[in-house]
Amino acid sequence: MMTHLELLEQLRQITGAPNVLTEGDLTAWELDWRKRERGRALAVVRPASTEELAAVVKACAAARVSMVPQGGNTGMVVGSTPDASGTQVVLSLTRMNKVRALDAGNLTITVDAGCVLQNLQEACEEAGFLFPLSLASEGSCTIGGNLGTNAGGTQVVRYGNTRELCLGLEVVTSRGEIWNGLTGLRKDNTGYDLRHLFIGSEGTLGVITAATMKLYPMPVSQLTAFAAVPSLDAAVQLLSLAHRYLSSGLTGFEVMGQFALSLVAKHYPQQRVPFWQESPWCVVLENSDNESEAHARECFERLLEAAMEEGCVTDAVVAESMAQAKALWHIRESIPLAQAEEGLNIKHDISISVSRIPEFVQETNALLLQHFPGARLVIYGHLGDGNLHYNVQAPVDDDQARFLLDEEAPMNSLVYEVVDRYNGSISAEHGIGSLKAEKLEHHKSPVALGLMRSIKQALDPLNLMNPGRVIRDN
Ligand code: FAD
Ligand code: MLT
Ligand code: ZN
Repeated sequence: MMTHLELLEQLRQITGAPNVLTEGDLTAWELDWRKRERGRALAVVRPASTEELAAVVKACAAARVSMVPQGGNTGMVVGSTPDASGTQVVLSLTRMNKVRALDAGNLTITVDAGCVLQNLQEACEEAGFLFPLSLASEGSCTIGGNLGTNAGGTQVVRYGNTRELCLGLEVVTSRGEIWNGLTGLRKDNTGYDLRHLFIGSEGTLGVITAATMKLYPMPVSQLTAFAAVPSLDAAVQLLSLAHRYLSSGLTGFEVMGQFALSLVAKHYPQQRVPFWQESPWCVVLENSDNESEAHARECFERLLEAAMEEGCVTDAVVAESMAQAKALWHIRESIPLAQAEEGLNIKHDISISVSRIPEFVQETNALLLQHFPGARLVIYGHLGDGNLHYNVQAPVDDDQARFLLDEEAPMNSLVYEVVDRYNGSISAEHGIGSLKAEKLEHHKSPVALGLMRSIKQALDPLNLMNPGRVIRDN
């Protein structure tokens, strides 16, 4: 068997020595975004092409060295950083960042997996198209990471998760073979759809190296409104009205609790957050219109009038310009950053049928505060998709590290037990990583877990691809 030193030498020959990092400050690759775990890599390898990546995987497999695919390292569940053993190789995709082709007639774009999401959005916009995936981390996350986690974001209510936007993939398998499935076909029923195995597999089955994604015509107008709503029930009622009045024009519907908005006001005082002091909840919603801005405004006005009449909106502003719309969205997108400024926290990325969310929150809040008095609830998220970030900040003046150590496990159990009773999911959009791998075993049926293990065994028999993530070692 090849030694680690021999492997490193081989990797240097494949990618060039400057692209095999073993020394110096590797924090950017070894520490997860939430600063939950610090790992240690044998090396961070940065291939420049699919062929180089395939050769790297072959070499690591021959040496029986496990690999951790990594894009922008913005994941929320500790899935893209190495463990503490110092024996894993991080496969960083960020040098593979080119747009390969744009097919305007077919409404598709083919792109390297390491392309930063914002660069992809901009390339599409320059060509007159919309690539609708949108997350607050878009300046750093990559399309490969988005596919690896099946990311959601703020446009799912209209365009679906990353999975729905993907037509084809190119993948390097755990053996180092290249599977070219880069098709732009919208209909293809030729056996098992392999693309869907890799999407959402969090680097545990193979490495996504490129993808063919769907494009949409750029809407003529994208209008944003920010509304104060008196309760979560009212927010759900507003969502129903928005579906009715805006139909497929409804492209975003996010809810934000008062405490979540207070954190933005506290940590980013330069942002002017409307209504947060007087309203328990606010909603940001977006209407995309293919006719005209005047038509978009008219639809929004009708919706907001009806909502005020029914008492589900108490006040609202509609952005007058693109800059104002961006500022309103920026408030929503700043919540996870403001939470990080406030300190370490516990995240629950859950989904429940939209209609049952108010009842769920009422029940869980009561239980949680009974068991963890003083805990501060940071509730916000993609209400249009039934996806809440039901997050918790330590009580004021409590030691944050102690809070996490002592309270995270019992608090997760409490929240997930209620999620189960509501037939919800313990991970709506962030994935499982290592943070939720143990929990998954309690929330999936034995049959489902057995099928997942069979897939893992078939595609990665040596358990070298991101081991311990999603499905734990048997
Ligand atoms: P990484 O963090 O590098 O990796 C994530 C996982 O994917 C890991 O398991 C990794 O091994 C795997 N992976 C990475 N690249 C590949 C590849 N090429 N092939 C196979 N597997 C791969 N997520 C949402 O869903 N919705 C949100 O609204 C959202 N908002 C966020 C806001 C902020 C401020 C931050 C910091 C994060 C947010 N996230 C959100 C989480 C995160 O940005 C997403 O999960 C994103 O898709 C991760 O992309 P990445 O390139 O950073 O992947
Ligand atoms: C978001 O919607 O802002 C994210 O998914 C980030 C988070 O959960 O903190
Ligand atoms: Zn989210």
